[in-house]
Amino acid sequence: MKKVVTDLQVKDLKVLVRVDFNVPHKGAEITDDNRIVAAIPTIAELVKKGAKVVLMSHLGKVAWKKLKKGEATMEDIEKQMKKNDLSIALDSLKKNLEAYLGHEVAVSFSKATRGAELKEHIDALKSGDVLLVQNTRYEAGEEKNDPELAKEWASYVDAFVMDAFGSAHRAHASTYGVPAALKEAGKETAVGFLMEKEIKGLGRCVEPKEDERPYIAILGGAKVSSKIEVIDSLLKKCDKILIGGGMSYTFKKAVYGIDVGCSLCEDDQLDYAKKCFETGKIMLSVDTIVGKGFDFENPEAKVADTEYVDGDHDFPEGYEGLDIGPKTRALYEDTIKSAKTIFWNGPMGVFENDDFQAGTKAVCEACAEATKNGAFTVIGGGDSAAAAKKFGYTKEFSHVSTGGGASLELIQYDGHLPGIDVIEDK
Ligand code: 3PG
Repeated sequence: MKKVVTDLQVKDLKVLVRVDFNVPHKGAEITDDNRIVAAIPTIAELVKKGAKVVLMSHLGKVAWKKLKKGEATMEDIEKQMKKNDLSIALDSLKKNLEAYLGHEVAVSFSKATRGAELKEHIDALKSGDVLLVQNTRYEAGEEKNDPELAKEWASYVDAFVMDAFGSAHRAHASTYGVPAALKEAGKETAVGFLMEKEIKGLGRCVEPKEDERPYIAILGGAKVSSKIEVIDSLLKKCDKILIGGGMSYTFKKAVYGIDVGCSLCEDDQLDYAKKCFETGKIMLSVDTIVGKGFDFENPEAKVADTEYVDGDHDFPEGYEGLDIGPKTRALYEDTIKSAKTIFWNGPMGVFENDDFQAGTKAVCEACAEATKNGAFTVIGGGDSAAAAKKFGYTKEFSHVSTGGGASLELIQYDGHLPGIDVIEDK
């Protein structure tokens, strides 16, 4: 069992809290501040304890990797960093923190991400103050877990709290290097309330007991290739895997040999998909809603034409699969309602579009009913969490994770993630 924020004696001490404020946004407008809301209980607890709270997070992708590959210049990166829009700058999140923490908490912002300026800012904090630091990825050493950078950040503080569940699968300087360095220096590390909740909730999907079965996973997402390891792991753990979304067309082509029109399809994964199907645990859609002229840049826009494709018939030329059909909805609903543990990652169709949201909505409805009947139902972050929110089902699930990639890897690695393992046990 990991040490938790409530176990720490941190009055007047400087505590670095790694949060995941990598929030969805369009330009400067935050479209979903759920990750900020989810981190507030831990921050408020530390403020209550009289700690000096230093918050670090990344936001988006800074083009360091492109620089290495020669696809960007240092000038491009500097421009990217100076551009004060929300695409990679954390400045404007300060106001969200202030709103949630209340006006009695002093929140400040540090533009400096390392060096004397950041140290001075941290040293000037009073007990109960909160400092938000600019995007950790402004440092090229963050994603490389550069030991010098980690040691430097660790030297500014007395303790570390990990509450960035969405980034716990990344062994970066701020998620892994800093707590490792602090532990080596004999300082305390702990998980925050959000991490504690995520570990408990997702932990139930790692190895359900006999009376918590059937255990089913509902998997969507565009690519089979990006989920091979997790599919392999879920095939061992689950009784059934219901496939939907983009990856289902690779499965359908592999299993039925049908022409899937211009649907998303990975021909180099057909053998793998067939092998998975042969385990007898995979359930595939038995009918499909296909459309013509779908615009991925503008998923909400009406498409030129839609058709219904029954069973294992070829899709019409120029059409692509965009949702599961009514027979599949009924089949999946029955399977979901008979399960006792459910893990869902990936929508069934293009839920952003009114014409292709029925499949994803049906999954929400069936899971809500399963929860009411005593099943443990978990959403593994990302688009499925966004869909449940859009259709008003968030509260009907037992646990909604704040991390997409992290929740998949937590299950895949039987509860182990770098950002969890590095924290000391009680
Ligand atoms: C996420 O949103 O999945 C996490 O914040 C991790 O972000 P990353 O994929 O850019 O590391």
